[in-house]
Amino acid sequence: MSEHSKFLLADSQIPSIWVNVLPSLKEPLAPPLHPQTRAPLTPQDLLPLFPMELIEQELSPKPEIDIPGEVMDIYRLWRATPLYRARRLEQALDTPAHIYYKYEGTSPAGSHKPNTAVAQAYYNKRAGMKRLATETGAGQWGSALALACQLFGLECTVYMVRISYDQKPYRRMMMHAWGAEVFPSPSDHTNSGRGVLAATPNSSGSLGIAISEAVEDAATHPDTNYSLGSVLNHVLLHQTVIGQEARLQMALAGEEAEVVIGCFGGGSNFGGIALPYILDRIAGKGPRIVAVEPAACPSLTKGRFTYDYGDTAKLAPLVKMYTLGHDFVPPGIHAGGLRYHGASPLLSHLLHHGYFEAKAYTQIPVFEASLQFARTEGILPAPESAHAIRAAVDEALAAREEGRPRTILFCLSGHGHFDMSAYETYLTGQLQDYEHPGPDIEKAMAAL
Ligand SMILES: Cc1ncc(COP(=O)(O)O)c(C=O)c1O
Repeated sequence: MSEHSKFLLADSQIPSIWVNVLPSLKEPLAPPLHPQTRAPLTPQDLLPLFPMELIEQELSPKPEIDIPGEVMDIYRLWRATPLYRARRLEQALDTPAHIYYKYEGTSPAGSHKPNTAVAQAYYNKRAGMKRLATETGAGQWGSALALACQLFGLECTVYMVRISYDQKPYRRMMMHAWGAEVFPSPSDHTNSGRGVLAATPNSSGSLGIAISEAVEDAATHPDTNYSLGSVLNHVLLHQTVIGQEARLQMALAGEEAEVVIGCFGGGSNFGGIALPYILDRIAGKGPRIVAVEPAACPSLTKGRFTYDYGDTAKLAPLVKMYTLGHDFVPPGIHAGGLRYHGASPLLSHLLHHGYFEAKAYTQIPVFEASLQFARTEGILPAPESAHAIRAAVDEALAAREEGRPRTILFCLSGHGHFDMSAYETYLTGQLQDYEHPGPDIEKAMAAL
């Protein structure tokens, strides 16, 4: 076994296809339904929001989809991303486990999000759009789309969840630097935003509300489409470059992952690293796979697998997913990108059929693991990604207890350089551990 800690790929090894699991599913996915008529959605229903090429990808029966040359040219700016073996963390944990992490924080925006932002901007430009509207939680997705729009000459409007808008001014400025306009959500720019503000003037916002604003903006402007940074099949598809590269890099390291871990907001980085391995699971082999979510917003571990709206104002289609209810506004935890009431329908389906596991952690143990990682491996993680670190550390500690080695692979989805106020809160002892917000969830689920 090599003593290397860093496993790199040549440009020629960057995947040239996206991997689509839809044709391999043994049980069919429940169809998305029209939010008003509740009839199964047709491609035409989605045209006011998305370009046809992305709608086709959403439903594609092809097992592989070629990545366009223009998208590959941009991927090559930072891909392939490195895979590291966390030898110093292993030493600190005194574990026989081997811990590997795929680091997506080397993209210009600092996370995995540009993998799909670039593809979405490309297809929208080809369809003749002038502008894209979107929402952002932590600001990672908004900045990724601002970058991608800039690279393809599109305008970009971002509805940024109020609490992140206040906590992360530098993310907002990064979006401005790449030419986007940014509104705090709920905003007075849309009917849905004004409705929420009238009922809750001090609303800290949520992804569900911000999605309603961006969808409304796109649906009411013919030159504008909507772009979503997670949840949808085509978004997860674009992220499969992560898992494809990781598999090649694990082979370079001479190892096979026994446990694959990703944090889970809507499911895009988790899907990105996990879906290529889930194909193995569907074929009856493959590693254990673990999705990690915050206990303050536990859609996978405490939600119900049922039809629900993707947004608060019920403008987005009804999809069958693990959900806490579209009215649920999660507490203002520092992993803003994990504050979504629902989950990818594809991944919900796969969880329901037992192809992976899910677990939830509160903030303080997550930040403890994050700091231990920063102090051994050097990289300061995004609070979202730190959920995956917590789970990887616990797997490594379990291996120590059992006295048996275990090969762990996790996705470090982004860096935390714009999350310093979260780290300050933790380091000054002010971080609160929100317990599972049971009564709020019950209220929101009662409305399902
Ligand atoms: C760094 C990072 N990781 C993870 C997530 C969660 O999103 P997803 O579940 O789509 O990967 C976000 C969302 O903003 C993020 O910024």
